[in-house]
Amino acid sequence: KEFAQRGQKPLKLHVERIVSSTNDVLRSYLKQGPLEAGETLVAEAQTDGRGRRGKRWYSPYASSLYLSMYWPLEQGMAAAMGLSIVAGYAVADAARQLGIADVRLKWPNDVLVKGKKLSGILIELEGQAVDNAHAIIGIGVNINLPTMVEEYVDQPWTDLQTELGQRVPRNLWVATLLATLSDALEEFKQQGLSPFVQRWLAYDNLHDRAVTLLMGQTTIHGYAKGIAEDGALLVEVEGEVKRYHAGEVSLRYD
Ligand code: BTN
Repeated sequence: KEFAQRGQKPLKLHVERIVSSTNDVLRSYLKQGPLEAGETLVAEAQTDGRGRRGKRWYSPYASSLYLSMYWPLEQGMAAAMGLSIVAGYAVADAARQLGIADVRLKWPNDVLVKGKKLSGILIELEGQAVDNAHAIIGIGVNINLPTMVEEYVDQPWTDLQTELGQRVPRNLWVATLLATLSDALEEFKQQGLSPFVQRWLAYDNLHDRAVTLLMGQTTIHGYAKGIAEDGALLVEVEGEVKRYHAGEVSLRYD
């Protein structure tokens, strides 16, 4: 219904019960034949869910959304940084549409509510040649996690049921998230990142906050100053605003 109202072509959706990781299974589909832009796999549980930086993403049955979307990068790998920003914006905006007013983004795309993680995004890029560069955009949104998850998760987290104070219709979340994400990706393809910079900044959790950046062995202290037109993080260090790219730094609040 969401898609019909927006006049969009429906997305192809695969639904599985238990998979290793939706990112890995979607990638295996790709080996069997081409996928359509926006083709998505949703699963009820993952046995080997993956987070960023090689971490595990705890994925109990029916407690979260676990999904991965295939997206060709016609702009080639140069689009990678922007993609990360666009995906974060789309997840935050879907959460806002469904009633989470205080959703925020921690650069590039951690989705937080009151400093606690609501959703994580793992984007994997493949194909070096411009004509087959593509991304697998993996998104996990906590819906109603069991409390035992504390044992597995090493950062403060929250879920939709806690934030909204009621049971959450998962299908509505999937539909809203996929519609918002595919609209945003299409707009990014046509117009690049510039329409998204201000929209992303409306959710910026870091602005003017003291941050520590870890770059290999080097630690940099500064103040977050939003994002540049290419999606790089701007940080004021000793009076000078510098740019940092995702992948090159890891970020902590002070
Ligand atoms: C993060 O570390 O914040 C990223 C977490 C990404 C988790 C999602 S769940 C669906 C998809 N499949 C995976 O194995 N990981 C992503």
